[in-house]
Amino acid sequence: MYCTRKIREDLIWVGADDRRLSCFEGVYGVPDGVSYNSYLLLDEKTVLFDTVDKAVYSVFLENLAHALSGRPLDYLVVQHMEPDHAATLELVVQRYPEAKIVCNAKTKTMIAQFFPLDLAERMVLVKEGESLCTGRHTLHFVMAPMVHWPEVMMTYDSADKILFTADAFGTFGALNGRLFADETDFFGEHLDEARRYYTNIVGKYGPQVQAALKKAAALEIALVCPLHGFVWRSHFGDFLEKYLLWSSYTPEEKSVMLAYASVYGHTENAANILAARLAEKGVRVRMYDTSVTPASYIVSDAFRCSHLVFAATTYNAGVFVTMENLLHDIAAHNLQNRKVALIENGSWAATSGKVMKELLSGLKNIEFLGETVTLKSALREDQLAELDALAEAIAAELAPVPAAAPAEAPAGQFSPEAVDNKVFSKFSYGVEVLTTRVDGRDYGCIINTAGQVASCDPKKITISCIKKNHTCDMVAKAGRFNISILTEDAPYSLFQHFGFQSGRDVDKFADLPWDERSSNGIRYIPQYTNAVLSCEIIDVKDVETQVLYIANVVEARVLSSAPSCTYGYYHAHIKPKKNPAPEQKECWVCRVCGYVHEGADMPDDFSCPLCKHGKEDFEHVKPVEKKKEKGYVCTVCGHFEPCEGELGEDYVCPICHHGREDFEPAER
Ligand code: FEO
Repeated sequence: MYCTRKIREDLIWVGADDRRLSCFEGVYGVPDGVSYNSYLLLDEKTVLFDTVDKAVYSVFLENLAHALSGRPLDYLVVQHMEPDHAATLELVVQRYPEAKIVCNAKTKTMIAQFFPLDLAERMVLVKEGESLCTGRHTLHFVMAPMVHWPEVMMTYDSADKILFTADAFGTFGALNGRLFADETDFFGEHLDEARRYYTNIVGKYGPQVQAALKKAAALEIALVCPLHGFVWRSHFGDFLEKYLLWSSYTPEEKSVMLAYASVYGHTENAANILAARLAEKGVRVRMYDTSVTPASYIVSDAFRCSHLVFAATTYNAGVFVTMENLLHDIAAHNLQNRKVALIENGSWAATSGKVMKELLSGLKNIEFLGETVTLKSALREDQLAELDALAEAIAAELAPVPAAAPAEAPAGQFSPEAVDNKVFSKFSYGVEVLTTRVDGRDYGCIINTAGQVASCDPKKITISCIKKNHTCDMVAKAGRFNISILTEDAPYSLFQHFGFQSGRDVDKFADLPWDERSSNGIRYIPQYTNAVLSCEIIDVKDVETQVLYIANVVEARVLSSAPSCTYGYYHAHIKPKKNPAPEQKECWVCRVCGYVHEGADMPDDFSCPLCKHGKEDFEHVKPVEKKKEKGYVCTVCGHFEPCEGELGEDYVCPICHHGREDFEPAER
């Protein structure tokens, strides 16, 4: 029986879960299963995005037939040829002989390698930036080589702002009925498996992932549809932020991943003592026995933690086999930018420390902390000091450092350096739309300053408004205002609409879909809000850049039970995160709305043209001086090889293995 889910009226998930697979790609355990996603677009033409693994072919074909409801399949877009997606391509093209196959030239070659089919007449070959109109939708093809294979491409539907991302943004784990990430506690329950999926499947290809993210950053995205795991329709920025860290080999947290290989428990004992010393110093430790925990979990936490400790016994004049495998795996995944400490053990000729160092020393920006601690069979009492010193060295970089006692400071003096502006986004106050009406015209803006100050009747609240904000003047003129309390589902566009343009320039209410007014005749916002208050001003205070209004509440209604949006929630979940690695020029960036004022100087009386905040709310951003590095870039996978002269005749790309004829001179 078919089992599908509707994503939009004309977009259906037709994939399937596999909970019987023990090892994904034959190596990565998937105790929670895995999903193979496939999507059917029902436009004037019908379009299937990828097929599925052969393990779930039966329900997939039923899903597809049901979703098509008797319509022909016009296009099959093949974004990735790895058999966990393309194994059932042959079945689909045979069952739907009218379907054209939309793919790139590399995919065409791979289809011929995998399947003995003559499909030349049915192929529609696409390149970077080319598009295909299917009726209401237009599909734009974005090449994403080496995320995870060289033929990978993504597809962007500009009509509904949907990005089909192939393997990117996937996760291990079956969907279990929940298709959307927001139907789960994703960051609580699934982030670890998303990290393990990313680091082990595409972790090696960080620069290629960064290149794909840069392309995606230029797109407006409402929905992200990967080939494994959940579909994203909200809060995608939080997941994207993780991808920016992982793909740039930046640690997610200041913590220690401690992995040990121990045959009779003596190396484990030293590892335990070190872990205990670190914990006593307030350092977070994630600890693994390499003989017990599969390498994919340890690789994943090596990407997560800033500091790595490896402890291993000597074995066959080298290093114990499970540690050797782990370090090969970490090196193969190209991990960078980590601090590493080593503990070796050997009853006669300890070699494990040297071998571990060699296995890791080819990685970029790996710094070894202190000397390798050497055990002879077992830790001696007099060696505890060495572990203490190692714990001390690590903790000195990670544990919070107690602040030195301040010098005598005169009370009550203001010093700008003593005030971190980020503190003000920690308040749990809400965000609201302030509206008023003067001379038959409506005005409104976003504020985050409403609060109750008296519970007597009539109840009293205060709001404050930036003086330069047009609505501030209008509130003073009107003597009354409404407050619509925003909820967590409020879209960023609503904040942009009321917060990042001025009522002096535009009528913010001209195109609004709502026309509701309270009894005072002032507009309020009935959607994405949970309450509206109508207020009469009883007092006004000038507070330098702001005006503080004290008002009686004369009418108040609850509109919904949705949770109020706090200022912190807005910053964490609604305000989009910065785009990855933009070209940086010296500028000033508004911390409130993100407006960028280019140039080195900003006048003291400058106010943001979007949100009207002053210079004190801008961050001065200076470009980091970077010397251009000469080299060659692989035209197949994008790998950059630093090189001052010519590439050697025998040179082959370490990523995709193409020869030097596929490289072009480049700088970065
Ligand atoms: Fe999910 Fe690279 O295949």
